[in-house]
Amino acid sequence: MRADDARPPAEPETSRTSEAGAGWGCGSPGRFLDLLPAAGEVRRFSWRHPGVLWRSRNDWVAKAFGDPSGDIRRAWVRELRRRDPDPSFTMRREEAEFSFLLLGDTGEGDRSQYAVVPPMLAAGGDTDFMVICSDVIYPGGEAADYEAKFFRPYAGYPGPIYAIPGNHDWYDGLRGFMHVFCDLPGEHEPPPWRGATGRLARLLWRRPAPVDEAALKAARERFRGAPGQQAVQPGPYWAIDSPSLRIVGIDTGITGGLDRDQAAWLREVSAGDKPKLLVTGKPLLVDGRVKPGRLEGETTTILDIVEDPAHHYVAAVGGDIHNYQRYSRRLGDGRTIEYVVSGGGGAFMHATHVIPRTTLVEEGDFRCYPLRGDSLSRYSRLYARWLRMRWLELSPQQATAVVAHRLGMDATRAGDRGVAPSRRARIVAALLGVPCGTRERHRMRRLPVRKVPQHFRSEFADWDRPPFFKNFLRVDVTPDALTIRCFGVTGCGEHEDRPPVEDSVTIPLR
Ligand SMILES: [Fe+2]
Repeated sequence: MRADDARPPAEPETSRTSEAGAGWGCGSPGRFLDLLPAAGEVRRFSWRHPGVLWRSRNDWVAKAFGDPSGDIRRAWVRELRRRDPDPSFTMRREEAEFSFLLLGDTGEGDRSQYAVVPPMLAAGGDTDFMVICSDVIYPGGEAADYEAKFFRPYAGYPGPIYAIPGNHDWYDGLRGFMHVFCDLPGEHEPPPWRGATGRLARLLWRRPAPVDEAALKAARERFRGAPGQQAVQPGPYWAIDSPSLRIVGIDTGITGGLDRDQAAWLREVSAGDKPKLLVTGKPLLVDGRVKPGRLEGETTTILDIVEDPAHHYVAAVGGDIHNYQRYSRRLGDGRTIEYVVSGGGGAFMHATHVIPRTTLVEEGDFRCYPLRGDSLSRYSRLYARWLRMRWLELSPQQATAVVAHRLGMDATRAGDRGVAPSRRARIVAALLGVPCGTRERHRMRRLPVRKVPQHFRSEFADWDRPPFFKNFLRVDVTPDALTIRCFGVTGCGEHEDRPPVEDSVTIPLR
């Protein structure tokens, strides 16, 4: 053997080093295509179908008439406590050293979800468990969708899977979620909204879909029936306690707040010196803004609990927004908390190019995936196709150049530095909402990228060809440190066995 052959293979290219690393121009198609169910094998949905919008209507009922998830959650929790009076909702692990996968916003059951599976198994098949954070099942959390969007795609993952629900799981009143993850059948009515508008709200509120127990059991046995894959979690919110780290998972319902009981529980599990990692449906720092998270009947917020020095949080990971962002935030007392958004686990992609140059942390302490330039290039192609206006299409290099120009910073990829954006690129960037510096582009002066109705936006941004720009996290815990690595998912065959590490942070635990 020559000396060269003994060298370990070079680190794979990433979106930060080359266009090939981002998945522009795949060398080979991904194996994930073989995992997709055959046509007609599972129930499919399209965001364009009016029935899908109707099935998601609890979102605007909750926003218009008041979010009932706190009351419904309390009813579920009362039942859980009858079954197990231990109020801590804590799963305990003996080992101080362990690892897990963390995926956000997974459940569309389409190519973008399945594309995540081979790289996830390659980089994290050996982990102890997996956590899904937010939106396990689109569009409405129904039990009938669990086969196609949960059991089947994760059949190859050998460990147990825990989850916290997202707003879409709540559109089913959490019925499907509680069945599958907490082994608790049942159904709970929304609270008594009062008055004339309350009657309208009750009329409009979508009741949970029926559960076919036999079909659910058969799906579980067929796809995730191995003993090592079984798990029953204590509730929709829970903690996993190990000697080195406590993971605290909270359920932020439809509109992002915590009910009184959950807030009291959060304070209890947050107490003490042990380092903690928060996993939340709604991220606390996202898109360059702080979203502190309401607590029922209080002026303090979830963010206040996380940043309280007595609670020793070192990181907070949230889903809901379908991309990756990390804000390394230094607090006044010298501590640093890593705030991560990781919602790119399967569903359509949210743009990152609309994120202004951040003022929450130094721009150098901010990471995102996809890079803003790649996001702009992807969206420019979508608009070019939709509007049949080829001139809108920007190459990754031109998109990167114009983002760097407008935000006043260097391009991330060395090969893109010094490239001047064309006049056309400047016009497209303005139309697609690339901010100027720290100022977000006003919505009225750009094409809709973020604030368009979900059913429309989702279909629009849900492409079925690489690069997908999905991501998942692998988290490794030792007594001394917590390492969070973000792996990019392109959908290209060459990235499936060694997916690109788009970001990595190691946090000391002692
Ligand atoms: Fe989502």
